[in-house]
Amino acid sequence: MTRRILIAGNWKMNLIDDIQPIIDNNANRKLDILVCPPFTHLGIVQSAVKDSAVKLGAQNVHDEDNGAFTGEISYSFLKSLGIEYVIIGHSERRHVFNETDEFINKKVRKGLKKGFQTILCVGETETERNANRYKAVIENQLKIGLMGIENNFENIIIAYEPVWAIGTGKTATPFDAEDMHRFIREKVAEIAGNEVASDIRILYGGSVKEDNVKELLRQDNIDGALIGGASLKYEHFNKIIEIAELINI
Ligand code: 13P
Repeated sequence: MTRRILIAGNWKMNLIDDIQPIIDNNANRKLDILVCPPFTHLGIVQSAVKDSAVKLGAQNVHDEDNGAFTGEISYSFLKSLGIEYVIIGHSERRHVFNETDEFINKKVRKGLKKGFQTILCVGETETERNANRYKAVIENQLKIGLMGIENNFENIIIAYEPVWAIGTGKTATPFDAEDMHRFIREKVAEIAGNEVASDIRILYGGSVKEDNVKELLRQDNIDGALIGGASLKYEHFNKIIEIAELINI
C-alpha cells in the first residue's frame, strides 16, 4: 500500500500572509494539502479553497454536539461549514490547556463517528525524552487516544510531534523521527492489526522547513508533515509542497 503524502499547515492563533497562491499553485498535486486556520476564519478560508485541491481542517473541537460549553465548537458546527479534517490532542491543547488522553479519546471517537479525517497528535516532552521514557509516553498516548475505535481506522491520521521540537527550530533528526514513526506503526499494529498499521498515515511535526522536509519525508514511515511556523508564509509552504511532491513521485 502506498500512503499518499499529506502536507498540513497548522496556523495556530495566526493567519497566513496570503492563501490564494497556495490554491493557485496546487491544482494537480499528487499529494494531499491541508490548511487549519483559527475557528473564526474557517468560513472565509472555506470560500477561498472550495473547488480547489486544498482541504480545510479545524485545530480543535469538543466531543459534545451542543450545550453549556462556553467557548467551545462542536463537530456539527464544523460539518455545517464543510470541514473534513480536525486536529485532536495537539501538544498545546495537552500542555497549555491541560487536555487529558481520555478527553482526547472522546473527541477522536466522535470525529470518526461523524466522518472526519481525524489527526491524533502524540509527542513527548524534552524531560520525558531525556529520562528515556519517551516510547512509554507515546505508547500510552496511542493506547488511550485510540481506545474503542475498533474498525474505524481508515480516517485516522497520527501526527508525531515531539514537544521539544515544536516552534524551537530543533527538528528531530530524520533517524530519530523514523525510529519513532516505526515504533508508532508497530504500536498501531498491536492495537489494530498489520493491515491498519501499514495503511495509516503518520505525519511528523516540529520545526519542519524547506531545508529539512526532504530528508524527513524520505524515511519509510514518515508520510507527511504537520507544519506550524513555516505554513504561515505562502512561499515557504508552497516550497515545502513542491519538495514533498518530488518525493512522492
Ligand atoms: P512548528 O512547525 O512551528 O514547529 O509547529 C509544529 C506544530 O506544532 C504543528 O502542529
